[in-house]
Amino acid sequence: MTLLMREGKFVVRADKQGGLPNGQTRPQRIGVRPIGLVVSREGSQHQEIKIASEFVSGLDGVESHDHLWVLFWMHQLTEDDRAILQVHPRGDTTQPKAGVFALHSPCRPNPIGMTRVRLLGWEGSKLVVEGLDAFDGSPVLDIKSG
Ligand SMILES: C[S@@+](CC[C@H](N)C(=O)[O-])C[C@H]1O[C@@H](n2cnc3c(N)ncnc32)[C@H](O)[C@@H]1O
Repeated sequence: MTLLMREGKFVVRADKQGGLPNGQTRPQRIGVRPIGLVVSREGSQHQEIKIASEFVSGLDGVESHDHLWVLFWMHQLTEDDRAILQVHPRGDTTQPKAGVFALHSPCRPNPIGMTRVRLLGWEGSKLVVEGLDAFDGSPVLDIKSG
């Protein structure tokens, strides 16, 4: 990215190699470990989150919350989907395109979904929730009180 002065205003120009203003650097990759998986059966109103055994103690106290935030990886998106930076809101082509960072579109460089769900139950390594719009098999990255 390069910061340029144009007609008295600063504008940001994307460099071919990417990068940040003032030569700042960013890590090219960071690591995340999925903590579990979404189980979503067709036709069911509820979804399950299966937590891997090594993370189960992180659920202690979860029952005191009605709602949780679930962060998941939209694993079925392709590299092409991840290169899309502008889309029509909700796929409505009568609306002008907007940037994906201004929307909840699944297309984005890091396909992280973030959904507030209702907690219906907790049994060992399994959470039962309502309202999780993640495909079956989506890796779960994190859960936070909501
Ligand atoms: C609009 S996104 C929003 C997700 C979340 N509520 C958010 O705001 O980040 C929800 C859509 O993402 C898509 N999706 C969900 N799980 C996915 C997955 N594992 N791979 C690809 N697409 C997925 C489905 O089309 C779903 O309807």
